Amino acid sequence: MTSSSSRVLVTGASGQIGTELLHALGRKYGPENVVAADIQPLSKNAPACLYETLDVTKAERFEEVIKKHRVDTVFHLAAILSANGETIPQLAWSVNMDGTYNVLEAARKLGLTRIFIPSSIAAFGPETPRVNTPQDTILKPKTMYGLTKVAGELLADYYVARYGVDIRGCRFPGIISNGALPGGGTTDYAVAIYYEAVKNGRYTCFLGPETRLPMMYMPDCLKSILDLMAADFAGLRHHADFNVTAMSFTPAEQAEAIRKLIPGFEVEYKPDFRQAIADSWPESLDDSAAREEWGWKPDYDLEAMSKDMIEVLQKRHAEGNLGY
Ligand code: SER
Repeated sequence: MTSSSSRVLVTGASGQIGTELLHALGRKYGPENVVAADIQPLSKNAPACLYETLDVTKAERFEEVIKKHRVDTVFHLAAILSANGETIPQLAWSVNMDGTYNVLEAARKLGLTRIFIPSSIAAFGPETPRVNTPQDTILKPKTMYGLTKVAGELLADYYVARYGVDIRGCRFPGIISNGALPGGGTTDYAVAIYYEAVKNGRYTCFLGPETRLPMMYMPDCLKSILDLMAADFAGLRHHADFNVTAMSFTPAEQAEAIRKLIPGFEVEYKPDFRQAIADSWPESLDDSAAREEWGWKPDYDLEAMSKDMIEVLQKRHAEGNLGY
């Protein structure tokens, strides 16, 4: 059954998470109540839904789109990720900070019901405890992306306390999926490795073999977004900064999991500038606050995710439709 009580807007709708969130929201609210917005056209795997071209740094246009579609809930996914952010830090500041400020101001002025703004493991830095990183800890990131995410978390808390806006969000680990490719992140290798394994049986990894990072499969990512958005606000002690995780692994461990399904799969390691970014992030997260405050629990581990990814990609490859 769908509920038509909400009109939802997804910014960054052409991206890795946006493309698949559109499907999930279409099922929940009905496609006629889902507005996709992005500066780029939608991915070919996006569902049929309403679409607006939107540069989130343009406040007036942002509000115009919200008013035009009588939007009450926004999933604000538009952002420049960690690796691209180090290539063009000025653009990362503008898209991530102005975009977040604009959605918060729109929420305040137009009385939006609820907003989701993702944060990231990039909010942490080298001074943060790296293993089982606590929920409330040192936030001194060294990337432009990371510092805009910390500022976004703090701004969200400010708008909750000062204006009573209902804002929620998770610190996502690397997200692995097969709907739309990730763009410009440090964890993109963990997606590319599956495509290359299926297509070529070999992969050149831009991180070293022992780089352990927290990760999550897309079905769990979507579940975390929908569950957190459905939680009772009164029960949340945190807002837009929940640690969430499903697994942690190194590229060598991921390659081994793939090799069980694609024997002979080979990986070569050529670390680049993204190694320093990964080295400043946690290896694993303590997500007990999310588990306690809104019942977070992931379904997929490395083995289950690898099996599903490879099944999906092998089928698409056989149909000549890998999209990579
Ligand atoms: N996947 C993101 C990145 O690598 C982390 O939020 O930038």
